[in-house]
Amino acid sequence: MSKLLEVTGVNKSYQSGGSPFQALSDVHLSIERGEIVVILGPSGSGKSTLLNAIGGVDQVDDGEIHVAGEDITRFHDNNLVDYRREKVGFVFQMYNLIPNLTVYENIELTSHISKSPLDIDELIHAVGLKGMADRFPRELSGGQQQRVSIARAIVRKPELLLCDEPTGALDSSTSKEILSLIHQMNQKYNTTVLIITHDQGITEMADRIITLKDGRVESDVKNEQPVLPERMEG
Ligand SMILES: Nc1ncnc2c1ncn2[C@@H]1O[C@H](COP(=O)(O)OP(=O)(O)OP(=O)(O)O)[C@@H](O)[C@H]1O
Ligand SMILES: [Mg+2]
Repeated sequence: MSKLLEVTGVNKSYQSGGSPFQALSDVHLSIERGEIVVILGPSGSGKSTLLNAIGGVDQVDDGEIHVAGEDITRFHDNNLVDYRREKVGFVFQMYNLIPNLTVYENIELTSHISKSPLDIDELIHAVGLKGMADRFPRELSGGQQQRVSIARAIVRKPELLLCDEPTGALDSSTSKEILSLIHQMNQKYNTTVLIITHDQGITEMADRIITLKDGRVESDVKNEQPVLPERMEG
């Protein structure tokens, strides 16, 4: 395996009201290509801040974030736009689909940005939504909407799939199906996956578990025997 992501000495503070608040403190981590990494930590520990920094959505104060060998903290705006388009797919807790576009159109929306996007009909099939291409988001369950958002994130074949509480709004059996789908996408396209969660159960499927506390990496542990999501307990 080769290294895809390396975060070194990252600090980030927010200026809220009078005094600055340190959301990330000297964060170091590195992730291999093809790994599934789960980031755990209490509310406010900096998980989303870290994910957004890695996704090139937010700036950090200092430190470096190398993705595929390039330090994205040095990128100018147009490099960052290209980076987000070409290298990263995002999945959020609230699916963020466009309500007046169909399943097909939601996925198609960003596909043209890629030089070699996945075939949309095939992808709709792969995420378990065969026959639903022409439905609108309101005609789908939460789990089905999350499948669309995963398809949308993956259609450009990003190297990094960043998921911020992807199962936060789903019941436990639907959560497992969604995690299973993320796992399948990881296997099929060798997509490196970072999943933020509050759910300790999700750590079973991870190759590695990173815990944040007060903006610092508290632990970074390899899981020697990841379990397939469909076999996970809970
Ligand atoms: N735009 C902002 N302005 C000021 N403070 C912020 C901002 N965004 C986040 N914070 C603060 O930074 C800290 C980390 O926030 P972050 O969203 O990264 O936490 P989190 O670990 O994702 O929490 P949760 O599990 O609740 O989503 C929190 O204390 C939060 O209040
Ligand atoms: Mg968060």
